[in-house]
Amino acid sequence: MAVKHVALLGPPGAGKGTQAKQMVEKFNLVHLSTGDILRDEVARETELGKTARGFMDRGELVPDQLIVDMIRGRIMAAESGFLLDGFPRTVAQAEALSSFASIDVVININLPRVEVVRRLTARRVCRGCGKIYNLTFNLAEGETTCSDCGGELYQRDDDKTEVIENRYDVYEKSTAPLIEFYDKLGVLRTLDGSLGSEVVFSGISDILTA
Ligand code: AP5
Repeated sequence: MAVKHVALLGPPGAGKGTQAKQMVEKFNLVHLSTGDILRDEVARETELGKTARGFMDRGELVPDQLIVDMIRGRIMAAESGFLLDGFPRTVAQAEALSSFASIDVVININLPRVEVVRRLTARRVCRGCGKIYNLTFNLAEGETTCSDCGGELYQRDDDKTEVIENRYDVYEKSTAPLIEFYDKLGVLRTLDGSLGSEVVFSGISDILTA
């Protein structure tokens, strides 16, 4: 496979994390999720985590320079190829990225606001292995442990309806302009995120093996 530098783009809840878990296994890419890295910084109460927490809890973006400084070294160290999940998220981040790494393909997963809210209010995540669940199809109401590792399932602090709405607003204002940015560079591919996750993954696999 020639495609080694891949980025996932899309609104909150589009299925980026769900797809990323399968993509890194199949295509041997290093998964770099800025959201996961930030949540780990918050949990460990690092200086970055303390700064980032307020932005994340409100559904706003963490300042560009902090994000670029956090991710640059990890991208440059991923010699076998990387999958960016949640980065870049602004034109400024995309411009910074282009100064130290190239991108072969940006996979843009679309999902309308109403479906984003429906999905994210029903999302639960495993504290142990990070497996992503949804109460509407693969988790019974009241189930609190991960079927894979036995870890505790939790609801993200930013998965409250008012925060989700703000995250979608922020996406439209600050992140959606990247669709045109990467389209102009000829690396953008768009998929319908409202389809089943296996169908979306099949579309991604077709793109990455074309
Ligand atoms: P981040 O963690 O990146 O959150 P996000 O982009 O808002 O995306 P999500 O993780 O909420 O959704 P997802 O697309 O991964 O969907 P998932 O697969 O879980 O960022 C969080 C915060 O960190 C930001 O708000 C910001 O503050 C900060 N941050 C992060 N990166 C930053 C950056 N670069 N710059 C500045 N700040 C940054 O799926 C969602 C649900 O849907 C799950 O329950 C899943 O089971 C279900 N599902 C998935 N696919 C399907 C399907 N096809 N059909 C039905 N259900 C599905």
